Amino acid sequence: MFRELVEKNRSYGAFYEDVPVKLETLMELVDLARISPSSMNLQPLKYILSNDKETNDFIYDHIRWASYIKKWQGPPKGERPAAYIIILIDRQIRVTGGRVDAGIALSSILLGATEKELGGCIISAIDRSAFIKKFQIPEHLEIMLVLGIGKPKGEISLVETDDEIIYYKGEDGTTKVPKRKLKDIIFDPEKYEKHKFHDHLY
Ligand SMILES: Cc1cc2nc3c(=O)[nH]c(=O)nc-3n(C[C@H](O)[C@H](O)[C@H](O)COP(=O)(O)O)c2cc1C
Repeated sequence: MFRELVEKNRSYGAFYEDVPVKLETLMELVDLARISPSSMNLQPLKYILSNDKETNDFIYDHIRWASYIKKWQGPPKGERPAAYIIILIDRQIRVTGGRVDAGIALSSILLGATEKELGGCIISAIDRSAFIKKFQIPEHLEIMLVLGIGKPKGEISLVETDDEIIYYKGEDGTTKVPKRKLKDIIFDPEKYEKHKFHDHLY
């Protein structure tokens, strides 16, 4: 069922690093992004793929993981993603914007990975200067996001929340990710005082 796929598609913090992700698999995932919607059908996204240890180690050393969890700098050796996909926006094709395209692309990639019993994590905290040097990325390609991909280790479950949004380890050892309740995300004007920004409209 599609909902199960979406529920399983979490941001994982641990992987079986010794389970390889083939280049062919990464290509299949990027091919899902390739056929996804794109504003004005400009298709400005480019991808760098990595599934070798040396490049993976470099990427790991230049990204930042889950800042809510204190004293946790990211997965230790052996529990890191076996592959990465770096998403770039080609500024010669699209001068500004493109972030929605990148969001749709990452969603296709991660859902595709989940269907293959893989898991991912989205990283936007990137040492961009280091990436530019390492991968010889030209000026017109903007580094948008890094996706870690691997066979996920450990369980993550969702919990409903009124307000708390910080993920945590539950007593059962699994990671809990709070999500706001459905009723709370449907707009209801009764819940809000008339907003100052819109004073001129009333
Ligand atoms: C645009 C975007 C950027 C993110 N950047 C980071 C990041 O730099 N580091 C990180 O550990 N997680 C990052 N995440 C993952 C979020 O922390 C994660 O989605 C959130 O905690 C909810 O968990 P879930 O993905 O399992 O629902 C990012 C997620 C999104 C959508």
